[in-house]
Amino acid sequence: MPTPLTPVLSATWDARDSWTLDAYEKQGGYQALRTALTMEPDAVVALVKDSGLRGRGGAGFPTGMKWGFLPKPDGGPRYLVVNADESEPGTCKDIPLMLASPHVLVEGAIIAAHAIRAAKAFIYLRGEVVHVYRRLLAAVAEAKDRGYLGANILGSGFDLDLVVHAGAGAYICGEETALLDSLEGRRGQPRLRPPFPAVAGLYARPTVVNNVESIASVPSIVANGPDWFSGMGTGKSAGVGLFSLSGHVTRPGQYEAPLGITLRELLDLAGGVRHGHELKFWTPGGSSTPLLTAEHLDVPLDFESVAGAGSMLGTRALQIFDETTSVVRAVLRWTEFYAHESCGKCTPCREGTYWLVQVLRRIEAGKGTEEDIEKLLDICDNILGRAFCALGDGATSPIVSAVKFFRDEFVAGTHTPAWELFPYERSTLFAEVPAR
Ligand SMILES: Cc1cc2nc3c(=O)[nH]c(=O)nc-3n(C[C@H](O)[C@H](O)[C@H](O)COP(=O)(O)O)c2cc1C
Ligand code: SF4
Repeated sequence: MPTPLTPVLSATWDARDSWTLDAYEKQGGYQALRTALTMEPDAVVALVKDSGLRGRGGAGFPTGMKWGFLPKPDGGPRYLVVNADESEPGTCKDIPLMLASPHVLVEGAIIAAHAIRAAKAFIYLRGEVVHVYRRLLAAVAEAKDRGYLGANILGSGFDLDLVVHAGAGAYICGEETALLDSLEGRRGQPRLRPPFPAVAGLYARPTVVNNVESIASVPSIVANGPDWFSGMGTGKSAGVGLFSLSGHVTRPGQYEAPLGITLRELLDLAGGVRHGHELKFWTPGGSSTPLLTAEHLDVPLDFESVAGAGSMLGTRALQIFDETTSVVRAVLRWTEFYAHESCGKCTPCREGTYWLVQVLRRIEAGKGTEEDIEKLLDICDNILGRAFCALGDGATSPIVSAVKFFRDEFVAGTHTPAWELFPYERSTLFAEVPAR
């Protein structure tokens, strides 16, 4: 059977010193930039629109259409901001991409900035990944030395200054408007919309915010043409993407494939669920996307099909959990994360995530009450659609879906601790068992 893997972004990761400019140029790097600079900016926008590329940061908004929303130039500054905050539990694609191939992001950022007529661009990186920060700084310096950044790029008359900014490590700063506040030097909290960033973004000027993988996809689209990209994937979900498998899987890692591949196919490539165990539940796109189970193994992993199955494609962060895992424990850990990361701006999320943790801790300890399950669902109902940003909505996804598929485990939490039903020793991938 031919492999469904389609390495595009990851094609160069195994090359010697893949992160250097020399290695990237040897693989054809920066040729797409030369092509793009011969094109009118609007023609580059049209090309990306035609490719069908949709944002890879979670929501799947069409990238070319987003670029097209910017108002006509008025002589003032316009900005490109690359969202490299990657902090969602399970999501782990942008960081390996930037580590192995920072120049594909730099090249994509230059092409995107040319397309939207921005002379200044930023990469907003999650602060903890100092090794990636150093690699991006080195890549930007190399690109500048070789004339790909700075004034009059490759003699085209186009100027671009690209700044790599390290955030302080807050999940909420991945939300695009909180990111912009943080970049401006303020506390990172989401802004009221409208106005949208396309109209009033960074420093209240027209701004495009795109995910790392979205921007890194642009050079190959320019090089190979929009039909090449739209010819892969399914229907409205064009192209290839990085699928990140983690957890109870034999060979965790990045698997680049056309959208529409199934978890069953990905698990075949990854050696299956860890030996001797079976799939219990999984996330299709990180912890903010409703859980799915073994009955969803054949759902095509594209935006429409995953939505049809009651979840979201999100960031294609496939966290795999086998039958040794307590769903209550997994959901509690995620909820503790959301409570910790809640920025506190709105009441439903700030208070709701706190109370969800209290109730889930009771259930995990086998001390839940008869009313606790309905209480959990009621709190979720008071967050979903009432929170100021999608962090609050996302916090409810694992809980509501876990109760839907595994209500019995929540009921068991009224009399038996989760650690007796599902001993840590059986589910852990590491030697150390957490203290209780
Ligand atoms: C709490 C929260 C965290 C987010 N974190 C990220 C992130 O780390 N990276 C990212 O690209 N998008 C993240 N997003 C989505 C962004 O708001 C935005 O939709 C995305 O950067 C747009 O890029 P795209 O159109 O290329 O996908 C997050 C959203 C929320 C609500
Ligand atoms: S939903 Fe949560 S993270 Fe978003 S604004 Fe409200 S408190 Fe902040």
